[in-house]
Parts: sequence; structure tokens; C-alpha cells
Amino acid sequence: MALKNVRLEVMKTVEKSIDEFVDKYLIPVEEIWQPTDLLPNSQDEGFFEEVTQIREEAKELGYDFWVVLVADMVTEEALPTYESWLMDMEGVEQHGEMKGKQNGWAKWIRHWTGEENRHGDTLNKYLYLSGRVDMKEIEKTTQYLINDGFDIGTGRDPYRNFVYTSFQELATNISHKRVGQLARKKGNKMLAKMCNIIAGDEMRHHLAYREFVKTIFEYDPSEMMLAFEDMMKKKIVMPAQFIRESGQGIGEAFENFSNAAQRLGVYTTQDYIEILQKLNDFWEIDKMTALTDKAEKARDYLMKLPDRMTRIAERIKVPQDPHQFAWVGANGTL
Ligand SMILES: [Fe+2]
Ligand SMILES: [Fe+2]
Repeated sequence: MALKNVRLEVMKTVEKSIDEFVDKYLIPVEEIWQPTDLLPNSQDEGFFEEVTQIREEAKELGYDFWVVLVADMVTEEALPTYESWLMDMEGVEQHGEMKGKQNGWAKWIRHWTGEENRHGDTLNKYLYLSGRVDMKEIEKTTQYLINDGFDIGTGRDPYRNFVYTSFQELATNISHKRVGQLARKKGNKMLAKMCNIIAGDEMRHHLAYREFVKTIFEYDPSEMMLAFEDMMKKKIVMPAQFIRESGQGIGEAFENFSNAAQRLGVYTTQDYIEILQKLNDFWEIDKMTALTDKAEKARDYLMKLPDRMTRIAERIKVPQDPHQFAWVGANGTL
């Protein structure tokens, strides 16, 4: 009970600076890009020509590439799951309207959601126009993923959730950026630009969440350390961990997608380790003092973890045979 109260107090304290965080890390609606800025405008005369160009350029991209792009898009489209999950954190009050002012954390989550919502929207429209994928199969996967939800091991704890989002936003930054690089290599400028600009959003979000954690470390170092350790012991699972294809069980599609991402070098075990190392560095885990005994042990565990994981990663082999997905059906290039 006592612990919970400290968390709520810390959340209330950080909440006072939420407007500064929103101003610093998010972009107002009137200034930020919209999917239409990156896609052919259907009101333009040259719309069909541009679509033809997209379809021609899309022929250059290989099977694993489409699998990864589809799974990335579906992950973004399951945003309702993430928003409702974060809204349920301790310290977030959706109905906390005090004198007409909404709860700061609810405001953050809504504004973050508003930015994120453009990602799935952009990629979905691109995939639809590309003509390379089976949209109905993909749409079913999205609906399944929203139905199935997720469990990222954070519970309702804001400390654990902010570790998760700090990690995950950087992971999506890396994967969108790499997909963009692959697209550029094959001459797909429009898709490359889309992926890059989305990656830029993810980076801003990452910087915000890691700042939340850094601030919490100032107020409640031992509990924050234990939350970080707990998340790394559980491993950071991807938000699309339950992704599935129509007629198949949970888990299969995710593993095959993640193998495709590893084969392409879009998101690898090495990236996971580097993200952890970056978080350790930014939060200055090595310099953290005034910890409880338990939290000191957690700090030592976290400091050693990147090396330990590197040794294990060296032994992991990624399967080389692409799995046949219904998403990239008859029209997909093998
Ligand atoms: Fe996103
Ligand atoms: Fe994100």
C-alpha cells in the first residue's frame, strides 16, 4: 500500500510538467505532417499516374520485405489496444477534469495516440495502393490482433510501462528507419520517405518516455530500478506478440515475421541489446546511488545484461526459409 502511494505521488509530481513535455516532444496538429502529404492526392489530376508509379516501384521489393511492412503496419493499426492499456495505468485519470482541466497524463496519452494514429493510416494506404499484398487477409489480421489484445508484463504500473515505451519506441524507430533504407536502395523514394518520417515520430516519442523514466529515477530510484530490472528479466515483448493470420493460432505468425525481420536486418537481437545499452547509459544506471540492497542488485544485473545477452545471441541461428504468409498472397514476389 505504501509503495503504491509513492508511485501515485511521483506520477502527480511529474504530471505538473506534462504541458512542457507535450510542447517539447509532440507537434501541434496544424504543424505536423499528415498521411496525405506523403501519398498521392486523390483529388489531383495526376493521381492515377502516381499510383502507377507506386505499383511499378513496388515490384522491386522482395517477399520478406512485404511481410515485414505488413506486420509493421498491423502493429501500428492495433493502436486502440495500446491507448486503452496506457489509459489504465495507475495515476492516469480519464475523468479527472478539475476546473475544466483534463488530467495531464490522459492528455499526454491522447496526444501521443493522435500522432501514432497517422502511422498505421499512412502505411495502410500505401500497401493498398501497392497491389502487392492481400488486403483482406491483412485486415482480418488487424481485427484479430485488436480482439486478442496483448500482455506486455507491465500490469498497471507506470514505471514498468514507461520502461516498456522507452524501449519500444526506439525499437520501432530502428525498424521503420531500416525498412526505409531498404526501400530507398530499391528506388522506392516515396515509401522511403514515409518510413523515415514515421521513424522520426517514434524517435521523439522515445526521447519523451526515456525522460519520464529519468525524472522518476530522481524521485524514486530504488523502485524505478526494480521496475527496469523486472521488465528486462521478463524481456520486452513486441506489441504484436499475438499477431495471427486467419485460420491460424496465436504465436506462429509473430515468430515467422520476426525471423523475416532478422533476415532483412530490420530488427535483430543485436538491436535489442543496443537499445538496452542506450537506456543504461542515458539513465546512468552505473552512477545510481542511495539504493536499497535489492535495487543495488538490480543495478548490477542491468549493468551486466548487455554482455550476457551478446554471448547468448551469438549462439542463436535465424531460420533461412521464408514462411508463406496469406498476407503476401498470389501477387507477392518470392
Ligand atoms: Fe508508430
Ligand atoms: Fe511509437
